[in-house]
Amino acid sequence: MEVLVVGSGGREHALALSLSECDSVNHVHTCPGNAGTAISGTNHKVDSMDIEGIVNLAKVLEIDLVVVGPEAPLVAGLSDRLSEEGIPCFGPDSKGARLEGSKLYAKEIMQSMKVPTAGLILIENIDRINESLDTYSPPWVVKRDVLAGGKGVVVTTDRNEAYNALSDGIVLDGKVLLEEFLNGEEASVLVVMDESGYVCLPASQDHKRLLDGDNGPNTGGMGAYAPAPVYTPAVEQRTISEIIEPMHHFLRNQDVPYRGCLYVGLMIDENGAPFVVEFNVRFGDPETQVTLPLISSDLGELLISCANGKISEYDFTTFPYSSATIVLSSEGYPSNSITGRVIQGSEITIEEGEISALVHYAGAVISNDGKLISNGGRVLAATGIAPDLVTAVEAAYEVIENIKLEGSYFRKDIAHRGL
Ligand code: AMP
Ligand code: GLY
Repeated sequence: MEVLVVGSGGREHALALSLSECDSVNHVHTCPGNAGTAISGTNHKVDSMDIEGIVNLAKVLEIDLVVVGPEAPLVAGLSDRLSEEGIPCFGPDSKGARLEGSKLYAKEIMQSMKVPTAGLILIENIDRINESLDTYSPPWVVKRDVLAGGKGVVVTTDRNEAYNALSDGIVLDGKVLLEEFLNGEEASVLVVMDESGYVCLPASQDHKRLLDGDNGPNTGGMGAYAPAPVYTPAVEQRTISEIIEPMHHFLRNQDVPYRGCLYVGLMIDENGAPFVVEFNVRFGDPETQVTLPLISSDLGELLISCANGKISEYDFTTFPYSSATIVLSSEGYPSNSITGRVIQGSEITIEEGEISALVHYAGAVISNDGKLISNGGRVLAATGIAPDLVTAVEAAYEVIENIKLEGSYFRKDIAHRGL
């Protein structure tokens, strides 16, 4: 297959790199891509939101499969347009993508399917803020009902901060959501699904806070590891029967069945009961970087099977390994990232029998004079893969510690819960 990956982050490099190693794949194109996808294939200067530009590119390149990384083009209807043109697309149509595009819609679907999730109050009037805050005890969870690139959620015990976040949301969007706080440990399950069936990838655990010990501001994700031990066989069984089965039943029965990844963000309470924190309609970042290396069957076959509604015919297998991904961020991330600096040492990877470590690029580009330059908040990530988690974490740190980028930062405690 000729494959086109849409996007430019670490997730897209991980997809492009894994796809480029598949027997089923001839060549991987990426638009717009980054320094990593330029090595694993060919970059094309088409923006990930330029729907018609992507459709034209796919036609010109005679693409057999388009794999959409980010949510925004899916919400904007990229998959709908590709299917009109008869081009197989991994990623749901715009209606399916509303599960991420609107948290209120996702909540309505979960309630109708009796999927366990936090309670919620929709607030459309500033006069109702105080009585709503009285309904739930702190911490308060405030969510905007828009695609906010991971920045639309405030979790706080400070009533003034919660009040301000709620009133800001009403002013900006005309409505805002106040959610019940869920206690427990988080895990991410990537479910590749179509109308014929689904495949659950190994559960991983992201680290959303900037600083060690899960302190500091929320970020896009500072690292991850897999498989996550909190997702025990008992938790897995409950997640499948209480969340994944009902959602699959709903999504397979839509006029246009869901074909893509359903990212299930879980909170698992002390009794092992799973609750949905959020759905995303795409692979996670950095969950993709940490999860794809654990798949031993052909990823290209998995994604084209899904795009064609034939997952039930696909034989999914994994390696009995653990993996850990450490993200390297720019100085000032997440508020004011300083970019345009030279990156050195990222070409040194590990390949020693069953132990390996590699680099996935994100906010990194090659300059006109051939230098590797940072151009985003999350610059790259090192992923270690090994028979056990301790060794996988060590391998990832060995690689990331070698990398030189002025002012850069990475967390030192990735996988602490698993270890
Ligand atoms: P979301 O964008 O909905 O995933 O929220 C971002 C992060 O906020 C999640 O990964 C959680 O760490 C936290 N969060 C969101 N909703 C809740 C909730 N109801 N209870 C506790 N934490 C939450
Ligand atoms: N790592 C969180 C996400 O991809 O939404």
